[in-house]
Amino acid sequence: MQTTTVSTFPLSTAAPSFKASVAEAAAFPRLVQTVVRNMIEAWPAEVYRESLVEARFLGRKTVFVSDPRLIHDLLVTQAAQLGREEFLTRSLKPALGDGILTSDGERWKAQRRTAAPVFRHDRIREFVPAMTGAAAATRARWDRQGAERGAARGAESAPLDVLAEMMRTTFDIIVATMMSDEVGLDVGAFGRAMNAYLDQTRWKMALTLVGAPAWMPHPGYFRAVSAARYLRGTVAAAVASRRQRGKTGSDLLGLMLQARDPEGGAAMSDESLTDNLLTFIAAGHETTAITLAWTLWLLAEHPEVEARVVAEMRAAAQAGQGPNLEVLTYTRQVLMEVMRLYPAAPLLVRKTLGEISLGGTRIPAGRSVHVPVYALHRHAKLWSEPARFDPDRFGPAQSAARDRYAYMPFGAGPRICIGMGFAITECLAILAELLPAYRFSRNGSGRPDARFSVTLRPHGGVRMVVTPRRLH
Ligand code: HEM
Repeated sequence: MQTTTVSTFPLSTAAPSFKASVAEAAAFPRLVQTVVRNMIEAWPAEVYRESLVEARFLGRKTVFVSDPRLIHDLLVTQAAQLGREEFLTRSLKPALGDGILTSDGERWKAQRRTAAPVFRHDRIREFVPAMTGAAAATRARWDRQGAERGAARGAESAPLDVLAEMMRTTFDIIVATMMSDEVGLDVGAFGRAMNAYLDQTRWKMALTLVGAPAWMPHPGYFRAVSAARYLRGTVAAAVASRRQRGKTGSDLLGLMLQARDPEGGAAMSDESLTDNLLTFIAAGHETTAITLAWTLWLLAEHPEVEARVVAEMRAAAQAGQGPNLEVLTYTRQVLMEVMRLYPAAPLLVRKTLGEISLGGTRIPAGRSVHVPVYALHRHAKLWSEPARFDPDRFGPAQSAARDRYAYMPFGAGPRICIGMGFAITECLAILAELLPAYRFSRNGSGRPDARFSVTLRPHGGVRMVVTPRRLH
């Protein structure tokens, strides 16, 4: 196996230390800026054409794995030798505690086993009405705004930020599916606190990556401290109130309260429940909204694809119930292709707990190993014309001919996204409500820049003109 060794930043060979060399100190602001602005820009170019790249990345020795067979070997066969990276845990634990995303070892295993049945396909199907309901509320909001604009002549074509709109819709869905009867919940304040918390994690990640101490203040630091306190307090109160009422319910909170570890039968503690509900919100709301916003944009760029999607939705419509999501096969292909070009989680990070070997290359314990999903999805050896948007790549024959580990927007192995089915169903339910009703157009602007800090966001939002189809 060919290993390419490159150096992105010629820093010292030791783990990054704040007390290190003058060169490191001088490079520090630039590194932080790059990570906060767009971490992808700091990746070595070889990750788009080689299999295994050893590089000094942001001051630490890092192995990038861009080969499907090696990724399988890493994330599946040798999964037990991998742990979470400190930059992920340090930035997320203050709000999310030790939930499924941030824990390792036995604690992770027990929580994952306990929560897995909650995300079964048949359970998720029961959430579809809540998902469709939130999308219908978005429609009602747009129609109201449209009517108001209609009253103010000349303002009909004011663009909307569809990313912000999808963030609101997916947040409404999380609240409706997770804590459906928490009447005292201040949804607006909760959403603002979650956004304030998540927004500053890019600083926390950047500073951890370059070796800064945990106490170092950064933009949003103090807001994040109070946001974490508010979020944890609010969810802990919801858990306690539901327990007190003795009525569990069939939303995510109810299902998690009833969940038992199949090995030993233990229920989750209130603290674990709080950790995991917050984890589901943090991991599930922005990722799904971003995927939807990119979908609306790419469909507007490709009217022939959009026409096929809308025709499929109309053909699948069930009397009075919206389309049957199970039969939206072409729309699924579109989603898959959107997530190839713009995977909302564009990087998987691990630290080796013991020595491992990948394709004959020895990787010592304590090494950072990154799977650059964004680069894998555009890898020169795996995809023809990687930059081209083509949902037919995910037709049955083409998919069957491809290595499963060439495409992984939801990760792979034991730590694969637990919410994958939930997210895909949610995207389909929202698109099926919105696309047959509205035309989304680009208003003459170019495709937004994709910037990676925590998630792969369209920079500056996604401004589109949204027009009811009946006007056409
Ligand atoms: C389009 C939407 C989504 C994308 C692209 C996405 C992507 C991912 C990826 C790539 C991972 C693996 C991370 C790794 O290996 O380090 C992951 C893990 C996770 N996701 Fe998602 N996700 C999405 C939606 C959701 C939703 C809706 C939920 C919950 C309701 C969720 C909950 C989680 C959790 C708890 C983990 C940690 C799993 C573990 O470590 O065992 N995600 N997600």
